[in-house]
Amino acid sequence: MDDTTVKAGNMSMRLAKQLLMTPVWFIQIFTQAKSFSKNPILGSALLNRLGLHVARIMLAHAIMRLRMLMLSRGVSKSQRQAYFNDGYILLENFLPAGDFDRLKTEIHSANAEVRECTQGDTLTHRIMLDENSLPNLPVAENFIKDIKLKRLLKFASGINAQPVSYIQTIKNHFVDGPPDPQKNLHSDTFHPTMKSWFFLDDVDERNGPFTYVPGSHKLSIARLRWEYKKSIDISSNGDRYSGNGSFRLSEQDAQYMGLAQPKGFKVEANTLVIANTHGFHCRGQASERSTRTELWTISRSNPFNPFPGIDHPLITRTQNRVLNAWRRHADRRADKRGTVSSWHVIDARNTIGTDNGGA
Ligand SMILES: [Fe+2]
Repeated sequence: MDDTTVKAGNMSMRLAKQLLMTPVWFIQIFTQAKSFSKNPILGSALLNRLGLHVARIMLAHAIMRLRMLMLSRGVSKSQRQAYFNDGYILLENFLPAGDFDRLKTEIHSANAEVRECTQGDTLTHRIMLDENSLPNLPVAENFIKDIKLKRLLKFASGINAQPVSYIQTIKNHFVDGPPDPQKNLHSDTFHPTMKSWFFLDDVDERNGPFTYVPGSHKLSIARLRWEYKKSIDISSNGDRYSGNGSFRLSEQDAQYMGLAQPKGFKVEANTLVIANTHGFHCRGQASERSTRTELWTISRSNPFNPFPGIDHPLITRTQNRVLNAWRRHADRRADKRGTVSSWHVIDARNTIGTDNGGA
């Protein structure tokens, strides 16, 4: 076979794949799909010039606001206002001191599967709080199923469901590597989405305070203009993270949009922070080799679905099982390539809040 025949064969394959995938890519317009690089419709410079990206943002934000309002029962007016105006809720001394001490003791002696991810010179360790781990963690189970916390998280995420919950330890400067990309200010995705941190350690500049740009979750005219320009730039040639739909923020960008200065959450242990991570945020720089441990939750759903859903234990179990199955699938695929998945199981049963697990 000569080169021309091979090239023609490759072109036919690409064309066939495009024909097969086009309906899928089209349907993804109406989901939380965000990757410009994986979906040529979302990544089309022409369609983004015509306003596709901005139209998705505006519609998603309107629907998510409606869902948050539907789930605002039991959330105080000041908490709702803080979330809508600033993009976050901060609650200090969230648990009574005795309950907090019991939770911290239990978590530090947790015996459960730990997964690790390396990003730059940072290691992140996570224990998923699910049907496998929770039977051995009764205090943590009470915490994540507490009605007061659940109401706050449901409101902030706009989903009537238990978020996916983890015990998480960030290990700053634990491996040799480039700077941690999670320490650059970014927006997670184009629509409102929720993450929360219940800090078990005091947090300051030593162990990298979570950092957020107050008010940056709002759709100002300047933000929409920036999103429009950014969507066209990325459709043509964007960086890897922005191409995945998590837009990075430079100082010039912040000035262009007239954003506030980033705020580092230097807080004491027993503080809960709930943030809309459509707003710009990052892990925060840590001045030394250090750790911080938190109970961390994440909740993301289709922002074009106007219904907030039904809270049922079966749905939570199914969600956890799907996530676990997907992780095991990623493990097997990586194993075949002779490597490990990005979130791989490590030998240590409990590295939470300790100095283990890194050079
Ligand atoms: Fe993020």
